Amino acid sequence: MLDRLCAIVPDYPQPGISFKDLTPVFADPTGLRRMVDELIAPFEGQFDIVAGLEARGFVLAAAAAYASGKGMLTIRKAGKLPREVYRDEYTLEYGSGCLEMHRDEIAPGTRVLILDDVLATGGTVGSAVRLVELTGAVVAGIGVVLELDGLDGRAKLDGHEVVSLQLVHS
Ligand code: PRP
Ligand code: MG
Repeated sequence: MLDRLCAIVPDYPQPGISFKDLTPVFADPTGLRRMVDELIAPFEGQFDIVAGLEARGFVLAAAAAYASGKGMLTIRKAGKLPREVYRDEYTLEYGSGCLEMHRDEIAPGTRVLILDDVLATGGTVGSAVRLVELTGAVVAGIGVVLELDGLDGRAKLDGHEVVSLQLVHS
């Protein structure tokens, strides 16, 4: 399913980067459902809320939260959240970023399932892990659709269960 629907875009957003575009999977009703079901199945009964990472992680997390009868936590890029936030800066394969999360949205001890579309260097998900832990909540697991090999993203997430639906040669 992923092989059939995921589009590979050479030299995007920079020369030398082979971009894995999941928007055709999002647009396919069967593809979207299967992808979300497969992301939450390994963590069934182990999480209280689903965290989505702006922007593409929002698609997955909102669907996963709805499908599992949970709420969704929005972890956003800098400057988008209106109330007091925790802030974490991170590096990406091409550039750097900063994620923020409201300080008061989850109680300490809440079990959080973090979902994103792609695990590359692990900078983004690693940042989300730090933000969740700053609140006193617990990372119940990490689910991604695609994991790019050779970038050592998993190494940044040491100690957490990481499930990826497909390993991709980057
Ligand atoms: C992309 C992708 C992941 C992240 C993976 O997000 O959606 O979130 O990079 O890379 P990493 O493991 O090296 O951190 P990006 O911030 O580029 O864009 P988005 O806002 O479209 O999700
Ligand atoms: Mg992203």
